[in-house]
Amino acid sequence: MIDETTSAEPKLRVAGIVKRFGAVTALEGVDLAVAENEFVSIVGASGCGKSTLLSLIAGLEPPTAGTLEVDGRAITGPGRDRGVVFQHATLMPWLSVQRNVEFALRGEAGLTRAERAERAREFLSLVGLAGFEEAFPAQLSGGMQQRVALARSLSYGPDILLMDEPFGALDALTRRTMQELLLEVWERHRLTVLLVTHDIGEAVVTSDRVVVMSPRPGRVQRIVDVPIPRPRTLASERTAEFQGLEDGILDLIHGAA
Ligand SMILES: Nc1ncnc2c1ncn2[C@@H]1O[C@H](COP(=O)(O)OP(=O)(O)OP(=O)(O)O)[C@@H](O)[C@H]1O
Ligand SMILES: [Mg+2]
Repeated sequence: MIDETTSAEPKLRVAGIVKRFGAVTALEGVDLAVAENEFVSIVGASGCGKSTLLSLIAGLEPPTAGTLEVDGRAITGPGRDRGVVFQHATLMPWLSVQRNVEFALRGEAGLTRAERAERAREFLSLVGLAGFEEAFPAQLSGGMQQRVALARSLSYGPDILLMDEPFGALDALTRRTMQELLLEVWERHRLTVLLVTHDIGEAVVTSDRVVVMSPRPGRVQRIVDVPIPRPRTLASERTAEFQGLEDGILDLIHGAA
């Protein structure tokens, strides 16, 4: 938890956020502070405003009321300090894997074409796609496409990675591999991660804290700390502590707690 009195400024601060779409109030008074290098998941019933919250943080749309800050500076639109990965990889089908990542780097001042190509290769290799640079998205599995999307978002060096059910469309085995990859990348690059997921086990195994949102209008219902030591393995998921956290979060979502 962030101690407001003693800790340094949070990486990300969301305060008093209200978001209305016409007559629908999607978010009503959301407060959240995320520390640098923290891994936080957001869970809650369908329609409780998880994607809305993420898109406000991504700067894709403005809040109706409230403030959003990265490093104490107001978020006014999308920025390279934040990378976004959605449920379905939004790759450009007519470009090779390599070109898809290079395209994301086109705005990087001071990078030559050769440096862009090198950077793209480096991040594709990081996500295990060395050798697939010249493939087209349609030739890749869903998990591989999500790896490209992850490489693309990481390639320009964001501090914060925002992910909206990035593994939701993947089978259980691939999802697990992707979770491990994400944790590896998070540790190596010292990212701050905000992960929206429907998979409570995924939230517990990856996160330092799990934000449980209440049904619409969305509010932060509870923030659950996950004190399980890292690295977390299959064995840690079989412990009573893990199961207890998972059950507690499910009860909160289903209104039983
Ligand atoms: N662009 C929009 N225009 C109108 N209403 C919207 C828009 N985006 C979201 N909403 C509404 O805001 C509420 C929250 O939607 P949101 O997509 O954030 O929920 P969610 O928690 O991500 O749900 P899910 O788990 O199903 O993805 C819903 O009632 C939705 O209909
Ligand atoms: Mg959503």
